[in-house]
Amino acid sequence: MTQSLVLDGVRIAFETRGAGLPVVFLHGFPLNRRMWDPQLTALSSQAHLIAVDLRGHGESDAPLWRYTMDRFGDDVVAVLDHLRVAQAVVVGLSMGGYVALSMMRRHADRVRALVLTDTKAQADTEQGRVGRFQMAQAAHRNGAGAVADAMLPKLLAPETHREQPTLVRHVRSMIEGMAVSGIAGDLMAMADRPDSVPLLSTIRCPTLVIVGESDQATPVPDAQLMADTIPGAQLAIIPRAGHLPNLETPQPFNDRLGRFLADLSPSTPQS
Ligand code: MLT
Repeated sequence: MTQSLVLDGVRIAFETRGAGLPVVFLHGFPLNRRMWDPQLTALSSQAHLIAVDLRGHGESDAPLWRYTMDRFGDDVVAVLDHLRVAQAVVVGLSMGGYVALSMMRRHADRVRALVLTDTKAQADTEQGRVGRFQMAQAAHRNGAGAVADAMLPKLLAPETHREQPTLVRHVRSMIEGMAVSGIAGDLMAMADRPDSVPLLSTIRCPTLVIVGESDQATPVPDAQLMADTIPGAQLAIIPRAGHLPNLETPQPFNDRLGRFLADLSPSTPQS
């Protein structure tokens, strides 16, 4: 069931399932919290799951104003405050991972552990920033469908495109449901985000890095860099998946994430 809070006139939507270790899920661009449905179903017996629609996405408002990774991170912390959650495992996919790294930089005391999936620590290159501008103009002129056309080939593995047409349509409909103000806000926020590589070696919480083996948007070497630089981080490469392994191959993704969460949870007494 959707819950929400209003921050300076902006409604932020989220939902919760289950009880126990708090785990907050942060979706990628240009998606929404529905991308975590397979995890909300599979892991709700194990933890207190919180899935947030970042501002500009899903059932949250999409104000026509400045978006930044820090603003997204502050919104997530406001949701945790609202739920009286002192610390959560932060699971961020792609842009959600950029938000998780911002939280690590500014709210490390709220992060129990990190799961960085199909994301990267480097800032955009100059060429990447030009691409963000062009995509924002395409969205402005032709709507969210133009963004879906540009993003879908990069989001899903070739075998997903061939074998899972229902999933391809689901991802397209999430993108087409986005407001152009949210799309442009995300693109500006991603273009402006800082380089997080220097942050990596300072991270002290348990960290799991996950990547789909065919991810074209944030490929395996980006994941390897994070796993090699964050002290003690674990790396999981998910076969037959692209940029959205949690949707493309949910079983291995859930197994790996479930094991990580189980290792963090206080052991339950045997009866
Ligand atoms: C995402 O999935 O959030 C985006 O691909 C991230 C990006 O474009 O850098």
